[in-house]
Amino acid sequence: MFKREQFGDNFKWGVTISAFQNEGAAKADGKGPSIWDTFTDKPDNINNGDIIGEASDFYNRYEEDITLARQLGMDVFRFSISWARILPYGRGKINQAGIDFYHRVIDCCLNNNLTPYITLYHWDLPQALEDKGGWTNREIIDWFIDYVEICTKAFGDKVYNWIVMNEPMSFTGLGYFMGYHAPSRKGINHFLKAAHYTVLCMAQGGAKIRSLQPQANIGVALSCSYIKPVNQLPKHRRAAKRIEAMLNRFYLEPLLGLGYPSDVMPALKIIKSFFKNGDEQLMAFDFDFIGIQYYFRVVARHSLTPPVLFANEIPPTVRKANLNTMNLDVYPKGLYKLLKFYSSYPQIKKLIISESGVCYPDFLVKDHVYDVRRMKYHQKMLKQVRKAQDKGIHVTGYFVWTLVDNFEWKEGFEPRFGLVHVDFETQERTIKYSGQWFQSFLTKKASKK
Ligand code: NOJ
Repeated sequence: MFKREQFGDNFKWGVTISAFQNEGAAKADGKGPSIWDTFTDKPDNINNGDIIGEASDFYNRYEEDITLARQLGMDVFRFSISWARILPYGRGKINQAGIDFYHRVIDCCLNNNLTPYITLYHWDLPQALEDKGGWTNREIIDWFIDYVEICTKAFGDKVYNWIVMNEPMSFTGLGYFMGYHAPSRKGINHFLKAAHYTVLCMAQGGAKIRSLQPQANIGVALSCSYIKPVNQLPKHRRAAKRIEAMLNRFYLEPLLGLGYPSDVMPALKIIKSFFKNGDEQLMAFDFDFIGIQYYFRVVARHSLTPPVLFANEIPPTVRKANLNTMNLDVYPKGLYKLLKFYSSYPQIKKLIISESGVCYPDFLVKDHVYDVRRMKYHQKMLKQVRKAQDKGIHVTGYFVWTLVDNFEWKEGFEPRFGLVHVDFETQERTIKYSGQWFQSFLTKKASKK
């Protein structure tokens, strides 16, 4: 088994959570509603009818959770800010109680020797902005930049590490194309508009932080998948390339100044109908790091549906893949291949695994959760990180999704990813076996040999 030191002295170990999934307190202290409050108000929208209630009650239990992160031996505490807690209507009047809450969270991190990494947007758009078109209204660029400015000014004397957005493909794809997530909008036009304005917001958000805080460490967190064609037939290989363009390149390449990946998908050129003069330049920003978040493998094949993509995924259940609770194909070896893929872009300065985790059913028996599978999953992922480092790839951190079990969006409370178990009736926390493993791995003194 490897040792912590082998990852390098500057390697950052972290845990990550998000506002909507953890905080609860949806109406407390002046917070406005977000699209996810609206969505979860209708229990039918959640697969098993779960009601979010207080989620994992981070709003009241942040001290306990941050202390747990410290106890596990982590260096970094990544959390997101709820836009509607700071600006209840998305813009206009600032809610001082929201600012004060995040100051308490940041201070608590610093007092526990944890470096805060702030995600500025983790999917919970203020409902008032959605009522004006949300991500499909170009004005979102001004709304977002104002919000970024408020946060940078409010917290920039204590926080240097910023993740401008989390998994843009997830919230635009699931929320504005498939209608599966909030705000339940569908269709290619909604998606392409939302996508383009999101790219502009990420790049311009990064530029805004840089202008206010030149020494900041600024990145984005992008979802990605290891994609494999079902076999080597050219049509399936091409199909895999198109899925790769959508899942792994679509948001990255414009940010790096390379434009949208229309080389393998000429139909993507229609996104230009939403461009204004100068957008090509405004889409790019020199990020300090790119965060990648890899949860599952996709096996792709050529198909006549859906049009434009002409490719689909062979469902992991049909392939008898190694499934997690969400029926996704768990394949740690894909991580090395992805790190290699991303390291081939000379524009990327540093890679961070800004989320990594797995959901399996957990059983709390006599105050113990024996989640050996989750522990082994992380060990296998870390082995891939070491392999990448040995090949000279600059990976500088591994942040676990997630610290405590929380609300998994449309899937409710069932998928559990935490290193710490939460009893959602009592909010009692129990460090799982996987958490204990991290604790001993991260806190054991280096041997002198
Ligand atoms: C990525 C998302 O950022 C997070 O919100 C989600 O809970 C995890 N993936 C697990 O699905």
